[in-house]
Amino acid sequence: RPAKKPKLSHLTSDDFKNGIFLAPMVRSGALPTRLFALKHGASLVWGPEMVDKAILHAERVADPVTGVISYNGKSRAMFTTHPIEKPYLIYQIGSSDPDLAVQAAKTVMNDVSGIDLNCGCPKPFSTHSGMGAALLTNPDVLCSILTALRREMPPEITVSAKIRLLPSREDTLKLVERIVNTGISALTVHCRTRNMRDREPAMVERLQEIVDFVEGMGRGIAVIENGDCTGWEDARRIRALTGAHSVMVARAAESNPSCFSSTPLQDVERTLVPSYIRLAEYLDNHWGLTKFCVNQFHGTHVDVRKADSKALRQALSTSKSYADSVLKEAISDDVSGKEEFDKIVKAIE
Ligand code: FNR
Repeated sequence: RPAKKPKLSHLTSDDFKNGIFLAPMVRSGALPTRLFALKHGASLVWGPEMVDKAILHAERVADPVTGVISYNGKSRAMFTTHPIEKPYLIYQIGSSDPDLAVQAAKTVMNDVSGIDLNCGCPKPFSTHSGMGAALLTNPDVLCSILTALRREMPPEITVSAKIRLLPSREDTLKLVERIVNTGISALTVHCRTRNMRDREPAMVERLQEIVDFVEGMGRGIAVIENGDCTGWEDARRIRALTGAHSVMVARAAESNPSCFSSTPLQDVERTLVPSYIRLAEYLDNHWGLTKFCVNQFHGTHVDVRKADSKALRQALSTSKSYADSVLKEAISDDVSGKEEFDKIVKAIE
């Protein structure tokens, strides 16, 4: 059974419990991917990290036909969302400055349910400016951002943080204690340290003591495991192993956004890919972004030698837009993009 979805008009710590969530992913966490994740059982979805300043001067435009909301920068949409995902959408900010973080959060708060602070990105573009994983070793700044967000956001907007492990357990627990005391609703722990690469196994076994510690603080905050979860079945195993309240999935969902379901789609080439392209076109998702996301999809039983999937992949690589006739032929139009969207609305609501 897919995880329970929040029924409340706004989220509380409890809605971050007993769930399986789509992780924040730059590019890969695009709007159609989030909608598919929700359709297939994700109970909450995180948007891709957006650096605080990037959204501040964006113009908010709502499409009167589809309802898609775009935050447009000078040359492109910085962030797109749809009102149907709002009850489940957590917007992630990259920041090293409480005032900018609050301004960014205020810019989008009417379109999202929660604000998350990225305290784990190890890439130099983040850490050089004091953001992401740099915050782990600068807890004063980290906590000042969370405190400011909690103070300035209305109560119906949750504030949460996503961190990595520190090398020592003592330092990790000290940091967790300070973070929890800022009044956040949920804490995601990516069970790797800043210097670990994604191919190294996540240190999931270190999570139990963090869960116990947070529970001991008695604030009812959800602790979310992140790292190496492959889908619904694996999330059960990880929760049993770690005591985590919920599990967050990134790369497995990037490969197959139906992995949140106890019965994920197996043949993504025939099922997910055509539906995804039709939906993405309907939502006017940037073609290059759609192509990028579809190229990451790999089902568990994909047989790329199958003539039809080969034709589809080829059509995808040569097509310059949704309108390309080769692509149209490869995905067939027996279902419209609007119908794909209606199916998602029905599954989510
Ligand atoms: C990420 N990750 C990430 N983390 C984050 O906090 N904000 C972000 O915007 C991104 N962007 C991102 C893009 C892509 C393509 C990947 C693969 C990853 C990290 C991600 O959320 C997660 O912490 C790690 O990938 C570990 O989880 P998995 O992949 O083992 O489930």
